[in-house]
Amino acid sequence: MSDGETGHSNRVALLVFLILIAGSVVAGDSVLETDKQVLLELKSFLEEQNLINRGNYSEWNPQDSTPCAWPGISCDVNGTRVTRIDLSDNDIAGDIFGNFSGLTALTYLDLSKNTLGGAIPGDLGQCQNLKFLNLSHNIIDGELNLTGFNSLEVLDLSLNRIGGEIQSTLPEICNSLVVANLSTNNFTGVIGNSFDHCRNLQYLDLSSNNLSGDLWFGFGRLKEFSVSENKLDGNVSAGIFTSNCSLQSLDLSGNSFFGEFPKEISNCKQLVELNLWGNNFTGPIPKDIGSILSLQELLLGSNKFSSKIPESLLGLSNLTILDLSNNNFGGDIQEIFGQFTQVKFLLLHSNSYTGGLHSSGILKLPNIYRLDLSYNQFSGPLPAEISQMVSLKFLVLAHNQFAGIYLQIMEICMDSKPLISPTTS
Ligand SMILES: *[C@@H]1O[C@H](CO)[C@@H](O)[C@H](O)[C@H]1NC(C)=O
Ligand SMILES: *[C@@H]1O[C@H](CO)[C@@H](O)[C@H](O)[C@H]1NC(C)=O
Ligand SMILES: *[C@@H]1O[C@H](CO)[C@@H](O)[C@H](O)[C@H]1NC(C)=O
Ligand SMILES: *[C@@H]1O[C@H](CO)[C@@H](O)[C@H](O)[C@H]1NC(C)=O
Ligand SMILES: *[C@@H]1O[C@H](CO)[C@@H](O)[C@H](O)[C@H]1NC(C)=O
Ligand SMILES: *[C@@H]1O[C@H](CO)[C@@H](O)[C@H](O)[C@H]1NC(C)=O
Ligand SMILES: *[C@@H]1O[C@H](CO)[C@@H](O)[C@H](O)[C@H]1NC(C)=O
Ligand SMILES: *[C@@H]1O[C@H](CO)[C@@H](O)[C@H](O)[C@H]1NC(C)=O
Ligand SMILES: *[C@@H]1O[C@H](CO)[C@@H](O)[C@H](O)[C@H]1NC(C)=O
Ligand SMILES: *[C@@H]1O[C@H](CO)[C@@H](O)[C@H](O)[C@H]1NC(C)=O
Ligand SMILES: *[C@@H]1O[C@H](CO)[C@@H](O)[C@H](O)[C@H]1NC(C)=O
Ligand SMILES: *[C@@H]1O[C@H](CO)[C@@H](O)[C@H](O)[C@H]1NC(C)=O
Repeated sequence: MSDGETGHSNRVALLVFLILIAGSVVAGDSVLETDKQVLLELKSFLEEQNLINRGNYSEWNPQDSTPCAWPGISCDVNGTRVTRIDLSDNDIAGDIFGNFSGLTALTYLDLSKNTLGGAIPGDLGQCQNLKFLNLSHNIIDGELNLTGFNSLEVLDLSLNRIGGEIQSTLPEICNSLVVANLSTNNFTGVIGNSFDHCRNLQYLDLSSNNLSGDLWFGFGRLKEFSVSENKLDGNVSAGIFTSNCSLQSLDLSGNSFFGEFPKEISNCKQLVELNLWGNNFTGPIPKDIGSILSLQELLLGSNKFSSKIPESLLGLSNLTILDLSNNNFGGDIQEIFGQFTQVKFLLLHSNSYTGGLHSSGILKLPNIYRLDLSYNQFSGPLPAEISQMVSLKFLVLAHNQFAGIYLQIMEICMDSKPLISPTTS
């Protein structure tokens, strides 16, 4: 490119630049100036509450002509409005600022990983355009009142101390909601029909709360659903799993569900993780689970399933984790376990097995990485095959009655082989 051409394009660029500046003075600067003033209020609010440790907001300089380059702040493409605030992990303690709604173009607010306390201020609900709100990992308490959050698509309130019932305010804010994480709070009462009208919801995590009563029936159309570690009970109805079930991950662990688990779960053709651990399920493990070819994790431990393991499960070629611990299985280890050649984690602890280590063939499983046989009633010498298990890294044998070796260690880490040799007896 010649000097003349360069000079010409520079002049064009300058002209375009001047037009842009003029345009923004006419169109946007006054609202941007208001946004900047609200951010400066936010800065003084944060500095008053945080006298020692200060986050990036302390670098917000009132002399700057625009706040769009301040750390943690983003503007729209034209640089005319503040649209995003990310003050995650910024050592912020105290209450939540009471005038975020002064930023009328705000779409994204991330205040996660701080020590914010108090209740969620009603002012946040006045942010008409807010699509993303992350207040995860704080000490927020009070009850949930999401009145006004009509545009919300992603809501993460996990790891706080929010209490009360979920159902009081959810329905009205549900239209756009795609992700709702309310995990690890202090919610009580029933789930009820709170989420019936959340037509776009895909990810719902209600785990580690204090919810009681029945399961919500509508979760089959989500991708991920967890109610792990609550106080829910009742049957799991077959009608939940309709032919259009889109679940990829279902976690019902740590509740008090009982009865037979419905075979209709096989309608969920995309299921990768099924966690029923720690309930009171009885009866057979549905053989239809064997048709869910995407399944990788099947956790059925701490229930009362009957001891016949369906052969259909052997065809699940992606199955990596199989947990059938603590299901009152006794006698010899079921022979079928020796055929799960694909499995890496096999958990059979806390049953009442007395034998079958050799006959089942589990000590010859080619891909086994972690094998947990603790809390059973095995006796006799420690089997020699253990030292030849090629892929084994963790072997848990504690709380049995193996002879000749006094197992004080809970877990044997097979770093270099042969680490334990049966000849030590
Ligand atoms: C950016 O400016 C253009 C032209 O003025 C306008 O059409 C567009 O809506 C603006 N975009 C935003 C996000 O404000
Ligand atoms: C502060 O901003 C810098 C650059 O934007 C970033 O790398 C850093 O992680 C931020 N610190 C905090 C505590 O957010
Ligand atoms: C919130 O910000 C707006 C815009 O600057 C301002 O008009 C209003 O007075 C502020 N409200 C409070 C309670 O500070
Ligand atoms: C919320 O923030 C936490 C911590 O910064 C992060 O781990 C989590 O992924 C965020 N949630 C969403 C939905 O982005
Ligand atoms: C929730 O907040 C809105 C507005 O802030 C208020 O009008 C309503 O009474 C509150 N609802 C409850 C149940 O406290
Ligand atoms: C919800 O939040 C918790 C804690 O922050 C996290 O472990 C979990 O993966 C999140 N759930 C979803 C569905 O993202
Ligand atoms: C949880 O809520 C109960 C009342 O429902 C209350 O007694 C308890 O202190 C709360 N726990 C926390 C950690 O806030
Ligand atoms: C669950 O709620 C009951 C009262 O409803 C309360 O006594 C208990 O402490 C709560 N448990 C947890 C873990 O918050
Ligand atoms: C799924 O199927 C059920 C009946 O089988 C139907 O009532 C429901 O509307 C369907 N849901 C979706 C999202 O298609
Ligand atoms: C299972 O049922 C038994 C007897 O009905 C009860 O004692 C136990 O607490 C229940 N366990 C769970 C996890 O609900
Ligand atoms: C549902 O629970 C009842 C006990 O309340 C039990 O008798 C029944 O067999 C269960 N139904 C199914 C399908 O498991
Ligand atoms: C099994 O896993 C592989 C690798 O993650 C994946 O490509 C394949 O689609 C999975 N098979 C099924 C049936 O989901």
